[in-house]
Order: sequence, then C-alpha cells, then structure tokens
Amino acid sequence: MNLLTTTLCLCLALVACHHHELVSEPMDIAKDELDRCKGLEMDAVAVDEEGVPVFFKDVHLFKGFHGKSELSNGTYEELDDIHALHHVDAALSMNCNKSDIACLFFFQDHMVFRYIHEKLVAGYPKSISEAFPGIPDHLDAAMQCPKPVCEKNTLIFFKGDEIYYYDVETTAVEVKEFPAMPNCTSALLFNGQSYCFFGTQFVEFDPKTGAIDGRWPKEARDYFMRCPVYGEGSVHLDRERCSHVRLDAVTSDDAKTIYIFRDHHYLSIDKVNGTFESDTIDSEFKEVHSDLDAAFAFQGHLYMMKGDHVLAYKSGEPPTLVEGYPKTVKEVLGLDGDIDAAFVCPGDKVAHIFQGQTVYEVNMTSSTLPREAVFDALMPLFKKVDAAMCGETGVDLVVGSHFYHFDSTKLMFLARSLPEQQRVSRVLLGCDH
Ligand SMILES: *[C@@H]1O[C@H](CO)[C@@H](O)[C@H](O)[C@H]1NC(C)=O
Ligand SMILES: *[C@@H]1O[C@H](CO)[C@@H](O)[C@H](O)[C@H]1NC(C)=O
Ligand SMILES: *[C@@H]1O[C@H](CO)[C@@H](O)[C@H](O)[C@H]1NC(C)=O
Ligand SMILES: *[C@@H]1O[C@H](CO)[C@@H](O)[C@H](O)[C@H]1NC(C)=O
Ligand SMILES: *[C@@H]1O[C@H](CO)[C@@H](O)[C@H](O)[C@H]1NC(C)=O
Repeated sequence: MNLLTTTLCLCLALVACHHHELVSEPMDIAKDELDRCKGLEMDAVAVDEEGVPVFFKDVHLFKGFHGKSELSNGTYEELDDIHALHHVDAALSMNCNKSDIACLFFFQDHMVFRYIHEKLVAGYPKSISEAFPGIPDHLDAAMQCPKPVCEKNTLIFFKGDEIYYYDVETTAVEVKEFPAMPNCTSALLFNGQSYCFFGTQFVEFDPKTGAIDGRWPKEARDYFMRCPVYGEGSVHLDRERCSHVRLDAVTSDDAKTIYIFRDHHYLSIDKVNGTFESDTIDSEFKEVHSDLDAAFAFQGHLYMMKGDHVLAYKSGEPPTLVEGYPKTVKEVLGLDGDIDAAFVCPGDKVAHIFQGQTVYEVNMTSSTLPREAVFDALMPLFKKVDAAMCGETGVDLVVGSHFYHFDSTKLMFLARSLPEQQRVSRVLLGCDH
C-alpha cells in the first residue's frame, strides 16, 4: 500500500473517533501558535541530530528550551500526511547503525516514521508491528536507552502503565510494570539521564528499575523551558541551579562570588562557604532586567553586556550602577554589539571577548574611550560559546548545558581537541541531574 492510500484509510478510520475532539478544537489548529509556558502537556519529545530536545504538541513542535512553536511538517514534512491525527504519539532518537548519525522515529497511531537528516527514510512510514515486532500501537511515549545506561541497547516504549523493553540487537521484547512510575506521556534520555513527562511535570527515573527519588516530580517549565515566573510554587533556587535551559552569562566577581545569569534570574554562589542564592535580575541589576549576553568582572566592577549596550556595576550590597552607564559596546569594548561571552582572568588587565568563533582582546586599563578591540584568535572548537569565566584554576567555557575547562587562556587558544565535557548543572552547580 502506498503512503497515500495508507493515509486515506487511516483518515477514514479515524474520523469517527476523533470527531468530538475536532468539534471542540479551533477550526484550524495549525494557525494558533502555542505557548509552552501556559502549561502544555507535550505529546512527545526526542533529541535531534544536534542534541537539542524537540518537544511535540499537536501539529507543532518546539525546538530547544525556548522560542516559538513551529509546524512539525516544516521540519518533518511527511508527518502531516496523516492529517486527521493532528499529533505525534511518541518520538525517540537513536544512533543509526554504527555511525554517529541520529535516526529519529515518530510514532503515530499504528505507524512509525523514520528520519535521517530530516529526510524520511525509504520504506517509511511502516506499521509499528513490522518495524518493532511486539510493540503495541497507540503508544504514549518512547525513548532510547543505550549501553551502559541500560544493560543492552534498548528502546523503551510506554503505553498506559505498561513499559516495553525492546532489545535493539535481538528484537526481544520484555514487558515491565513499575508501580512507582507515573504513566508517561513523553520520555527523554538527555545528558545521560532518563526523564518521564506527564501533564506539565516530570520525574527522573532509573531506566533499569523504574525507581524514582522522593523529591520528584518537578515542573517541566522550571527545568526544560524558558518561562518567566508563571505562578506560585516555582522554586527559584533549585530551578536556577538545576535547570537545563542555557545560561546567558557567568562571571566571578574578584574573589567572593560567582554570578550565573539566565533569562530573568541570576544565581550567586558564595565561593567561601559554597552557598547558593537566587533572585530576579531586577532585584539587583534592574537596568539589565533580563537576557544578558555576557558579563565579566574587572577591578571591583561587574561589566554586563546586553545587545549593543554595556552596564557597569560597582560590586557591593547592593551593586550600584556606575555613573555614565549604560554606554555602547562600541565605546567600552570597541566592538559592534551582540557579544556571546567574555572574561577577564583574576589580576589580568585584558578582557577576552567572544563573538562567534572570533575572540578579541581589549585592554581594560586604557581609560580613553572608545577602547580598541584587537583580534586575538579563532576558536575552531566551538561555533558559539554561551558563557565564559576565568578563575584561579583557569578558564571555563559554557556551551549549552556543558562546560569545558582549560588550565589557562593560553592553553584554551592552543587546544585543537575538546577537553572533557562536563555538565554545568552537575559539576558546576552540584545538582543531581
Ligand atoms: C503542514 O501542516 C499543517 C497542519 O496540519 C497544514 O495545514 C499544512 O498544509 C501543512 N503544510 C504542508 C506544506 O504540508
Ligand atoms: C546506516 O543506515 C543508513 C540508513 O539505513 C544507511 O543509508 C547508511 O549507509 C548506513 N551507514 C552505515 C555506516 O552502515
Ligand atoms: C495509567 O494507565 C493505566 C492503563 O494502562 C490506567 O488504568 C491508569 O488509570 C493510568 N493512571 C493514571 C494516573 O492515569
Ligand atoms: C555564606 O556567606 C555569605 C556572605 O559571604 C553569607 O551571607 C551567608 O549567610 C553565608 N551562609 C552560610 C550558610 O554560612
Ligand atoms: C594597556 O593600556 C595602558 C594604558 O593606556 C598601557 O599603559 C598598557 O601598556 C596597555 N597594555 C597592553 C598590554 O597593551
């Protein structure tokens, strides 16, 4: 049966049971942009080839942790072919054969679609029973569980309270029930951890045993989406520490405090006693408000870059805006705006400024403005650095939810291969996920 006939049959079969839903939905659900901060229960989630989680809801998808909804068929064209379904039941990504390429699988009703590089693989969609014998139709959620997270290379499928372990090599299926687990509506392996989403909440679980730590569930909007504070019950501190949303900027003010900026919030870490505090950026740096690009500390001042402006604050409780600021990035750093990341090493006089793969050097002791930015080096290791910090032990570059440590600025520029990838939340911030 070719795709068109399959689709047609499916549509006919589904009109009846979906009729009541269609009536209560707006006429054209594709036109309505979805707001993920309004408490959506996602239909499915999987990481794409770039390692970015993609969340699916109805005919829309959300790429990454913030940004608007897009039509799913803008990226995965054929997903629209089964019109009447209006949603994806489940999604998973796994390594295709031995290569590092990610294959994405989407499950809709009794069919499965397989994509490589956003192109439908020949022979798909096919029935789930053909592609994954022993796995039921109408799934709720799916995820990959490769070795060594699971004992064998496994795909885990969720339907109601039943959990199916599909052995990728032997295709053997084992059905499990984990009483402690909620019924997942989507599931994700991300940064080596397993997450089960249900409603607007999620739990982290042990994929081998289904065990869940007592502190769960948590609100997905706090950890997987970049939403402004949306109501009561959101826990600032834990959220700011352990969120998977990218950092905007990070800096260490001289000896005492590390500041981490993300969206509308900042987190400060006391380097002496290791305590964390979190508050809104408005409460301490109200002229910045939110969405900082980069920050560095120099001689008792915190310099914060946002768009084409720089704000300078004198460290203290509370920090105070230095007279004459904001100034333009052009004046203070000799560059056009939109800085990705910046750092000054303790005791150093030179600011290193990242714009894409280019790093510039600015002599901060020079008091005549505009200062001049000098080309420093290219950083071929990263397309874009999100945040950077220099301390007594060297430089940390943050890219997405990971960071990379270099023992010095010089070694950072000399590096031609990636140092060990470390998790921001776990290593830098001491989170359990
Ligand atoms: C994409 O999906 C939407 C919603 O189902 C549909 O209205 C639109 O026609 C589709 N676009 C294409 C190019 O298939
Ligand atoms: C991996 O699988 C894809 C799709 O089935 C195929 O095109 C590709 O040649 C395979 N690669 C290797 C290294 O086997
Ligand atoms: C979980 O799914 C089972 C069916 O498999 C159902 O009986 C049960 O009510 C569901 N639990 C919740 C909390 O929805
Ligand atoms: C840690 O130090 C900061 C100031 O340096 C202080 O405000 C805070 O109360 C201290 N916390 C603890 C638990 O000692
Ligand atoms: C930085 O600027 C100061 C003041 O203009 C100058 O004395 C110093 O030599 C400069 N340092 C470097 C490394 O260019």
